[in-house]
Formats: sequence, structure tokens, C-alpha cells
Amino acid sequence: MALTVFILRLAVCILAFPMYLLDFLGLWNWICKQWFPYFLARFTVMYNKQMESKKQELFSNLREFTGPSGKLSLLELGCGTGANFKFYPSGCQVTCVDPNPSFEKFLIKSIAQNRHLQFERFIVAAGENMHQVATGSIDVVVCTLVLCSVKNQEQILQEVCRVLRPGGAFHFMEHVADKPSTWNYFWQQVLDPVWHLLFDGCNLTRESWKALEQARFSKLKLQHLQAPLSWELVRPHIYGYAVK
Ligand SMILES: C[S@@+](CC[C@H](N)C(=O)[O-])C[C@H]1O[C@@H](n2cnc3c(N)ncnc32)[C@H](O)[C@@H]1O
Repeated sequence: MALTVFILRLAVCILAFPMYLLDFLGLWNWICKQWFPYFLARFTVMYNKQMESKKQELFSNLREFTGPSGKLSLLELGCGTGANFKFYPSGCQVTCVDPNPSFEKFLIKSIAQNRHLQFERFIVAAGENMHQVATGSIDVVVCTLVLCSVKNQEQILQEVCRVLRPGGAFHFMEHVADKPSTWNYFWQQVLDPVWHLLFDGCNLTRESWKALEQARFSKLKLQHLQAPLSWELVRPHIYGYAVK
């Protein structure tokens, strides 16, 4: 099986040779950072439609984590275009973090469409180092479709724990690797390298639930789900929340 995966991977990589060439020349990363927000803006419309009820379920308890100030301070990690804004409760104070500055103009549009929120700031940074955010200052951190792309999941989750106040929560919804016995898992393995290059560092084969189980949260509520998405490769999902 490993040999078949290797041969098919090689074939796919040959077909994607122009992309690898641009990457070798140091141009692909720049192109990807520019085109990815446009792709994501379109993808989000489809994703939010197909996942509407699951997102509503995921975010239904956000208010329970409002801190002593009486306002819910929420940090969206890997905010992208602001796909989750419409699910947040009124008056919620939103801070956005994303390493790709090209998302800013999409964020501005989402903010204009979600006047029920109080937007704080957009920090251009990777989640592995959010030194601009004070320790224990956030009630809820949200992360959707991000753990598949980050360089270091363990470090991200340590940072999440640092910025959360005690009793604060981390809400997540992530696509993950399928069960190893499935055809979908086989194709995830084959397509992973090209997918990674094409979709700005996204991985199809991450078992992100393991990092969440190992992180230092006091409570973890995590569910596996075959999401009702048209793209089979990203159907296996995990979602839920963890409390600091
Ligand atoms: C697939 S998009 C998801 C965007 C948004 N959360 C959503 O649900 O539509 C992945 C996002 O993670 C961001 N990202 C990648 N690496 C990151 C990191 N190390 N820390 C924080 N965000 C990261 C990307 O720039 C991108 O905005």
C-alpha cells in the first residue's frame, strides 16, 4: 500500500510540476498568499451553507464564557475572511489574528456586514507567537479550519492557553485525517503534498484531536463528524470546545 501511495504521489507531483517549479524559484508562496483569500471567500459561502447547523451548535454556548467585565472578549485565530462573525453574539469584542495580511480587505468587508460585533483589532501574526495579546485577557478563542495549516499545533495550543483567562474556552472545528481503513484516507495520503502547496500549507492527514487531547485544558468536549460537504477529502471533521 505504501508503495502505491508513493507512486501515485509521484504521478500527481509530476502533473503539478509548474507549481513546484514556481515554489523552487521562491515565487509560489507570494502567489499563494495573494490568491488564497479570494479562493477562501468563495469556499466560505459554500462551507457555511453546508455547515450552518453545526456552526450554530458549536457557537451556541459562547455567552456562557463571558468574563467578569460583562463583555465577551473573543479572539479568532487564523481568522481568514471572518467566516464565523455572523455566528457570534451581539456586543462580542472580536480580536483577529492571521499571519496573512492579504486577508485585511476581506475582514473589513465582513466587519461592515456584522455591525452587531465590536471589532477590536487585526493582528498580523502566527498563532504560535501572539505576544501582542496579554496573558489571561481573552474569554474565548475560536479556531476553524486552522490546525490543519499551522506549523506547530502544540505551540499554538500553549499560546491559546496563555491568552485565555482561567475558565475561558477554546472552540474549534477542523477537518482531519479519515479512518486508516478507508479509501478516503488513501486519497488523502496520495494528494497531501500537492494539496499542501496549493492550499497555503493545509494538510489533509492531520490527527488534530491528538494535540487537543494532550493540551493542558481542564475539560475537553470533542466530537468526530463526517461533515455534509461536497469535497469528500475534507469531510472527516472534529468539533467542540475545551475549557482552560
Ligand atoms: C483554511 S483557512 C480558514 C480561515 C477561517 N478560520 C475560516 O474558517 O474560514 C486557514 C487560515 O489559517 C491561517 N493560518 C495559517 N497558519 C497559521 C498560523 N500559524 N497561525 C494562525 N493562523 C494561521 C491562514 O492564513 C488562513 O487564514
